[in-house]
Amino acid sequence: MLLRIPRKMLRCAIALLLLGVATAKLVKFTPCLNAQELCTVSDVDITPCQSPSRCRLEKNQTTNLSFDFTPKFSSATLKTGVYFVNSDTEMGFSDLGPDACVYTSCPTVADTKQTFTYSLYIGKRIPSGLFPIRWRVWDETDNSKMCCFNINIKIAK
Ligand SMILES: *[C@@H]1O[C@H](CO)[C@@H](O)[C@H](O)[C@H]1NC(C)=O
Ligand SMILES: *[C@@H]1O[C@H](CO)[C@@H](O)[C@H](O)[C@H]1NC(C)=O
Repeated sequence: MLLRIPRKMLRCAIALLLLGVATAKLVKFTPCLNAQELCTVSDVDITPCQSPSRCRLEKNQTTNLSFDFTPKFSSATLKTGVYFVNSDTEMGFSDLGPDACVYTSCPTVADTKQTFTYSLYIGKRIPSGLFPIRWRVWDETDNSKMCCFNINIKIAK
């Protein structure tokens, strides 16, 4: 028997599918080598994002980013920064930070998962291209207590 799906329902399903593509996306990330023992990062989410391994960010637009992290340390206040990574050098990027408590709750409690959310505006002066990005969140009084991960983003022309 041929399954007959009402056209209206089909249209609705396709619309939902497209909506799913345009909304929140968990993206691929890699933890930084030296920061894995003291902090676990999970569920890095970029909206909008079409490709989870390489989100495309448009200039003159705001992109929402969020991630969960579980520090193994307690901390009264946190600092944060986002950087372009070019072999060994890191270049500050975006107006994020340095006060991380604006984007996540402080103080942090050891072994408790919390969420960091940030709306990133991509200005017109940021060059187009594919960029490795490193995100860091650390204890203000001891920067060896750090959460850190890498993602790749593409900044559209
Ligand atoms: C940048 O975005 C704003 C708001 O969407 C818009 O009004 C403005 O025209 C845009 N500027 C350029 C140069 O595209
Ligand atoms: C980003 O988050 C803000 C605040 O929650 C919201 O108003 C806006 O619509 C979001 N933008 C996108 C592209 O999801």
